Amino acid sequence: MTTDFTEKNRQAFDKKAATYKSGFEKVVETLVNVVQEQRSWVSDTWVDTEAGKGKEIKALEYACGPGYISLALAPFVNRVVGMDISDNMLEEFKKHVREAGRSETMIGVKADLVSESSPAEVSGPEYFNFDLVFVSMALHHFEFPEKAMINLGKRLKKGGVMMIIDMIPEDHHGHEHEHARHQMGDMVDTISKHGFSLEEMRTMYENAGVGIGFEYKVLESPLVFTKDGKTFEKTIFIARGQK
Ligand SMILES: C[S@@+](CC[C@H](N)C(=O)[O-])C[C@H]1O[C@@H](n2cnc3c(N)ncnc32)[C@H](O)[C@@H]1O
Repeated sequence: MTTDFTEKNRQAFDKKAATYKSGFEKVVETLVNVVQEQRSWVSDTWVDTEAGKGKEIKALEYACGPGYISLALAPFVNRVVGMDISDNMLEEFKKHVREAGRSETMIGVKADLVSESSPAEVSGPEYFNFDLVFVSMALHHFEFPEKAMINLGKRLKKGGVMMIIDMIPEDHHGHEHEHARHQMGDMVDTISKHGFSLEEMRTMYENAGVGIGFEYKVLESPLVFTKDGKTFEKTIFIARGQK
């Protein structure tokens, strides 16, 4: 059963889908650069690497939104599945996939792996055995991030890699939520946790059975958000670990 918190996220992102890029233009650009620059650090298995040669490499982006990050990695894998809870985001995902001429190898599907362990929509074999599972700028929107990582870990093949990109915690003396409301308005109500530390991520990776070779690094370029003519920055990390 999808929870109230997840439902709040679905409604908020349904509304945002069509105008996602306005205000997030720089954010998207930075994230695309990050995944393309860091992919060799994340995994050695890509269509253009020795380890990936001759393999059918499958990737899953959970909480894929409009698909910009999936599309940035699509040239380096054979198949991408995007999952999200927002129908409108999935419409955007599919539109961008079509525009990029990648409809043969990329699909978008609605599923909630945060509150449900095995939703019927994604129970088929095409939704398992991934080489790469990734979540970009969405873990902080999940009511149960630990559970989500456990459910996602089950979808990886042995040796497969989980990549997470999210915010580092900032110290606002217990007033993180108020601080964030000031910056991002009502969207703050879709956030369950304001950033994840190295130790928190290590524990979550280990509990999800994807702790082999765990690494976490803070990235130099922050994400620059624009809202109502004002800008604010968020420092992000990238983490990886294997099953
Ligand atoms: C900030 S966007 C990030 C989109 C994309 N990953 C990116 O980096 O551009 C967050 C996405 O998470 C999705 N989302 C929020 N809660 C979710 C949940 N419980 N399960 C799946 N997707 C969720 C939203 O619908 C939205 O598309």
